[in-house]
Amino acid sequence: MTDLARLQLATLPLLQWFGEHRRDLPWRKERTPYTVLVSELMLQQTRVEAVKERYTEFLRRFPTVEALAAADEEAVLKAWEGLGYYSRARNLHKAAKIIAREGFPQTWVGVRALPGVGDYTAGAISSIALGLKTPAVDGNVVRIMTRLLADPAKAGDSGAKKRFSELLAAVYPEEAGEFTEALMELGAIVCVPNGPPMCGACPWSTLCKANLEGRETEFPQREEPKKRRVVYLNVYVLKAGEKFALVKREEGLLGGLYGFPAEETEEGAPGRTFGSLLAVKRAKHIFTHIEWRMTGYLFAVPKELEGYLWATREEIGEKYALPSAFRAFRKWTE
Ligand code: ADE
Repeated sequence: MTDLARLQLATLPLLQWFGEHRRDLPWRKERTPYTVLVSELMLQQTRVEAVKERYTEFLRRFPTVEALAAADEEAVLKAWEGLGYYSRARNLHKAAKIIAREGFPQTWVGVRALPGVGDYTAGAISSIALGLKTPAVDGNVVRIMTRLLADPAKAGDSGAKKRFSELLAAVYPEEAGEFTEALMELGAIVCVPNGPPMCGACPWSTLCKANLEGRETEFPQREEPKKRRVVYLNVYVLKAGEKFALVKREEGLLGGLYGFPAEETEEGAPGRTFGSLLAVKRAKHIFTHIEWRMTGYLFAVPKELEGYLWATREEIGEKYALPSAFRAFRKWTE
């Protein structure tokens, strides 16, 4: 059987299964192109559980694309706090300004041209918000496709993404958005990435080549693990009375956000000294390509040093978006 023929047989059972088993997620309730844009940008590289907690609150704060377009960047970043990868928030803000001016794009190409929208997200938004037959192929969809077809592609293989996109585009049903989410859902709750897939609960169990051959755990074939660059940082939490020193981070990782003063350092090199040292703590934060190994120093200083923004515990809680990377040291301000 050809891959295309197998995929054609797989479409209807997947849609039926999704109709019965779809998770009740906040962004699946009332949908507009704007809410789809918000949810799909939030869901990039971020777990459904984390997005669930923030999505509704974000839309309460910015209920329409006009409201978001008119907001201050600081407020948008604040509402994004905890979700990480803050360039997404800035891109969403820029996209809202474009849409408020020009209207929501009506084609995949138009959606793809919005800031922060890559091929995958353009496929998801175009199908879910506009009903276009545009696949959204990420690592999860590559995984379920490699199993369905017993295909040798590796998970991060961009050639495979393109090939699977073309195959999927040829079988997309009229219920385009449903189909996009059904593919995601199968990868999220049945054909899972960690541990063995739950083939007993799968609508594709009698079609799936890997399952039929008893090789479901062999796909997708393994990749060389990615090496993360390790960066050592000294992080200073300076306390003057009730206030703490913050700096606005320049461009680069977490650029534009507030953080504690920090500097890149060599492994094991001692930190600077400010007033009296109250505590030292190590913490790690893992980004996609970089790992921060931080040593945090809590200092009491006699007065508010120049060159910093001094904020109270309440202001840090409410006004300044402090990235999750610094979470371990935030406790010192509480
Ligand atoms: N991941 C990306 N988009 C999603 C969606 N609409 N539903 C569930 N998971 C997703």
